[in-house]
Amino acid sequence: MKADSSFQTFLREELRGIRGHAPLVRIIDGTQGHRVRIEGRKVIMLASNNYLGLTDNPKIVEATKKAIDRYGVGLGCGRSIVSMRIQVELERRIAEFKRVEASLVFPTGYDTNLGAVWSLMNPETTLFLDEYSHASVFDGAKLGGAKVKPYPHGDMARLESLLKEPDKGKRRFVATPSIFPLEGDIAKLPEIAKLAGRHDASVYVDDAHAVGILGSHGRGSADHFGLHGKIAIQVGTLSKALASVGGYVAGSEELREYLFNRARPFAISTGHIAPPSAAAALAAIELLEDDDSLLKRLWKNASYFRDGLKELGFDTGNSETPIIPVILKDAQKTAAFSKKLFERGVLVRGFGPPTVPEGTSRLRTIVSATHSRAELDDALDAFAKTGKSLGLT
Ligand SMILES: Cc1ncc(COP(=O)(O)O)c(C=O)c1O
Repeated sequence: MKADSSFQTFLREELRGIRGHAPLVRIIDGTQGHRVRIEGRKVIMLASNNYLGLTDNPKIVEATKKAIDRYGVGLGCGRSIVSMRIQVELERRIAEFKRVEASLVFPTGYDTNLGAVWSLMNPETTLFLDEYSHASVFDGAKLGGAKVKPYPHGDMARLESLLKEPDKGKRRFVATPSIFPLEGDIAKLPEIAKLAGRHDASVYVDDAHAVGILGSHGRGSADHFGLHGKIAIQVGTLSKALASVGGYVAGSEELREYLFNRARPFAISTGHIAPPSAAAALAAIELLEDDDSLLKRLWKNASYFRDGLKELGFDTGNSETPIIPVILKDAQKTAAFSKKLFERGVLVRGFGPPTVPEGTSRLRTIVSATHSRAELDDALDAFAKTGKSLGLT
């Protein structure tokens, strides 16, 4: 009893700190889309990574129903025992889509980075990485015991100087997200690949926000920059633009085999991608390959919305993608802005320290291909009114 009550005290004390930073989690009824139903009314959704609006796409929904009829809902064992046809078919299609030899699918994007970095990067490895890399990459490096050398966001001169420093590491990797989740800018991948090549390092790219968004038909950053064959490890998620759940590593056949056996979140788990999720990802890739009109609409919507915000006098930082921050600097004002926007029918998430550096608090807006012009105009109107009422524009 004593231990139990001190445990409860610990939780209560920790939660006091956590609750100070935690934003209100809204519950949506019905499907996720460009508009969502919350507390009985429809609000414009500008806070989701559902870039292409595929989460309720009829073709994808139908494909998942068929997959359940054919494969059921789960595997029930580790994939070192058996794999389902639909799981290996998804891996084959991802590899084809990404124009690499092979891929391996993990339960989440987080597990993908964690498992890949943890298993590939040990104390004999030096990992150079953009400071704004995802927590899963840092976590994997910590578990693997790699020597980590972060460089300031996008700073190629610093990356070069770090690569030139004497280093006893037997293997070297340079890792970066291709699209930065809170900035919406794109990594300088050609320069990174050149520097890595010159200094005997392999490139690890996290395409979580780029698959389905960058490159022809959404193939990702390697395709966007014409770097096929130059990126050793391409990681991505199935849970954002591809409207499913899961993550993947795409690269060589040997890389797949190594991770299949050594990446612990994959190799020692029975939690593998379920048939409906595999079917949804397969259908999303099919849809992207057949038709890039959604991709074009996404980019048009992004430019329209970003230009509109800039015209209203907001600071959108270095955004060049459908992720468009509105940098308000002050954490309190950011929280108040997000609350007022919701009252005006627009859902936008605010981010403050410690998620972003002090003095850079921001609203993060994310447009989708399926937002109509009228919805974007309504959202801009809500931004204009809220900005004025808070004395920010
Ligand atoms: C850059 C980046 N990498 C990896 C992930 C993890 O992907 P998932 O959400 O599928 O776990 C995320 C997402 O949250 C991300 O933003």
